[in-house]
Amino acid sequence: MFEDLERLYQAASAALAESKDSAALEAWESAYLGRKGAVTLALRAVGNLPKADRAAYGKRANEIRDALEQAYAQQAELVRAHELARQLESGAIDVTLPGLRPLQGGIHPATRTLREIAEIWREMGFQIFRTREVEDDQTNFELLNIPEHHPARDMWDTFHTTRPGVILRTHTSPGQIHAMRRYAPKPIRVILPGMCFRYEQISARKEIQFNQVEGLAIGENIRLSDLKGTITAFARRMFGADRRVRFRGSYFPFTEPSMEVDVECILCGGKGCSVCSGTGWLEIAGCGMVHPTVLRNGGYDPSRFSGFAFGMGPERITMLKYGITDIRYFWANDVRFLNQF
Ligand code: DAH
Repeated sequence: MFEDLERLYQAASAALAESKDSAALEAWESAYLGRKGAVTLALRAVGNLPKADRAAYGKRANEIRDALEQAYAQQAELVRAHELARQLESGAIDVTLPGLRPLQGGIHPATRTLREIAEIWREMGFQIFRTREVEDDQTNFELLNIPEHHPARDMWDTFHTTRPGVILRTHTSPGQIHAMRRYAPKPIRVILPGMCFRYEQISARKEIQFNQVEGLAIGENIRLSDLKGTITAFARRMFGADRRVRFRGSYFPFTEPSMEVDVECILCGGKGCSVCSGTGWLEIAGCGMVHPTVLRNGGYDPSRFSGFAFGMGPERITMLKYGITDIRYFWANDVRFLNQF
């Protein structure tokens, strides 16, 4: 019976040496060391032996189990390393294959136009000046010469907040006040791009949220002719060198005189079509000479300083440029629309 034990030890060792992958190892373990394995059963058989042999047999059986367990751990480690190496070899990366192209977003069409606009003004010496989207009533209206009960307020339907006097800016014009107060009495040439908000019924032509680019130039001897020349230069850079530009008298409380700027319709070239409603002209901006009251509110002496201002909407300009018929596309987040730019 001691010989049986030694034979078992020999057989188990030989079989272990032949177990060269994890499946064979697993089978070996259950055949020898598992709950019904040969070594386990041999250990259990101690009870059936004559009393005198039990101690010696048990001791040897335990030694054999410990030795096999150790050998098993070693073999398992070898097999694991071997299998890993094989796996790495077979799964090696082919560095000559072309890479996967990562999914890339694009620049939103309104942002694209906004950057184009900013670039043209930059060339003419206008710096970008960023101001807040949440404004107070004072800066959005009062300081721009729009008193509380003035009917001109109807031009801007406003989002109010729960804090009295705190609103979402309805236009970028309040940025004029911030810029003037920052730089007065130095001359200014800035554009103020950014988001505006209006409490309006959404339609193909009206959104509650949109960008504007405000412009402001202040100095000594700035005249209406400077305004007209500068805006015309912008329009030609933006829409084409031969494009005709016209100025129509208009009204804004913060400019005097005030005008609206039209360019010859891009689509029909002035003949009249559905985009320009048959007029041959497209409106691109409001503008005017900064009102003396606004200059004063910004910290400039209107008897010495003068200036011009303008405001345009990148979404509207994008619509004109690409013949987009519905402003709601800009916020619909439909990739079929966005992919085209
Ligand atoms: N703030 C005006 C609006 O939102 C646009 C505008 C008109 C801005 C004339 C100006 C300007 O600076 O001079 O309708």
